[in-house]
Amino acid sequence: MVGYGVVGKSVTTILAGRYAEKGREYGFNPKIVAIADIDGAVINPRGLSPEKLEALKQTRPISSDSEFGHPEMAAQEVIESVEAEVVVEVTPVNIKNGEPALSHITKAFKTGKHVVTTNKGPLALAMPALTELAEYNNVHFRFSGTVGGGTPMLEFAKRCLAGDRILAIRGILNGTTNYILTEMSQNRVTFQQALTNAQKLGYAEAEPSMDVDGFDTACKVVILANWIMNKKITLKDVDRTGIREVSLHALDEASKRGNTIKLIGSIDGGGKPAVKPMEIAKSNPLCVSGVLNAITFSTEFAGEQTLVGRGAGGPETAGAVLRDLLAIRHILADRMLR
Ligand SMILES: NC(=O)c1ccc[n+]([C@@H]2O[C@H](COP(=O)([O-])OP(=O)(O)OC[C@H]3O[C@@H](n4cnc5c(N)ncnc54)[C@H](OP(=O)(O)O)[C@@H]3O)[C@@H](O)[C@H]2O)c1
Repeated sequence: MVGYGVVGKSVTTILAGRYAEKGREYGFNPKIVAIADIDGAVINPRGLSPEKLEALKQTRPISSDSEFGHPEMAAQEVIESVEAEVVVEVTPVNIKNGEPALSHITKAFKTGKHVVTTNKGPLALAMPALTELAEYNNVHFRFSGTVGGGTPMLEFAKRCLAGDRILAIRGILNGTTNYILTEMSQNRVTFQQALTNAQKLGYAEAEPSMDVDGFDTACKVVILANWIMNKKITLKDVDRTGIREVSLHALDEASKRGNTIKLIGSIDGGGKPAVKPMEIAKSNPLCVSGVLNAITFSTEFAGEQTLVGRGAGGPETAGAVLRDLLAIRHILADRMLR
């Protein structure tokens, strides 16, 4: 595992608690053999015990652990030198150059390791190249925590709707902006007041641009477009407008028509993928409140299918990591049976 923050710690909590249960259910017995963070690593080729994983949450830096610590050992070196099947990449997002995750992921592929990540940065900037590199190296690449957090939006579209044809996707894919717009429309506060509330509650960063200018939603649109609609696009191909200009007056006018304004990420067959504030009917199933996320898939046979759920959170996103590990495990097991 690379990165030991909110998601990384939740992953170890879930894995430690679920070893026995998942082992019985799926013949699945994952061991965490190394964790690398910015200061160094801990490595135990036999697997870090649940007790050690728990203790490491209080150890700062983790590489100061007297038994298994490797101070200053960089993540790239850990990925290269440690024997492992999968790298779980959960470092902070960066949409300028995708680093450090981009280097971690490519290093993992080149050393024959599958990758599970929750980090949107490398995917937003280089998804077509990364999926090609994974195929070339004959490894699997999964990222279900990048869109919808724990809500399985990518799997639902890819697996459950496999027999259908998805014609268009529309989604509220960012909880922070949804919270701000909900506050503005329900409590009649200005954008700035709603943003300040979101920051106080920990929903928005001190530097909120990633959310309020629509970058986060645009990253998710890129991932959906590539993975679900087979489009080969990156962040620069998405038309993007954030919510800074949404006024109380516009929300009031929308309300008179039975509508409200939401930040919608959309992809359809022909047009350019887009992120922009749009008026939608309050009665539309997509119209969720607060920090919830929602996505509607318009399909050829089944009509509209909408999925609603929490779009972020440590345990939720860690659940998506576990789901991806299981998916890789299933593919490998099927291959062995053939
Ligand atoms: N939290 C969520 O609800 C959520 C939901 C969906 C997706 N995600 C995505 O999942 C990823 C992880 O999120 P998070 O909330 O766990 O972030 P976080 O709490 O900031 O944790 C990131 C971890 O990566 C470490 N790190 C930074 N640079 C590194 C490097 N060069 N090498 C190795 N480790 C490095 C950090 O160490 P330091 O603390 O020492 O800097 C920290 O331990 C992000 O990309 C995020 O966008 C998060």
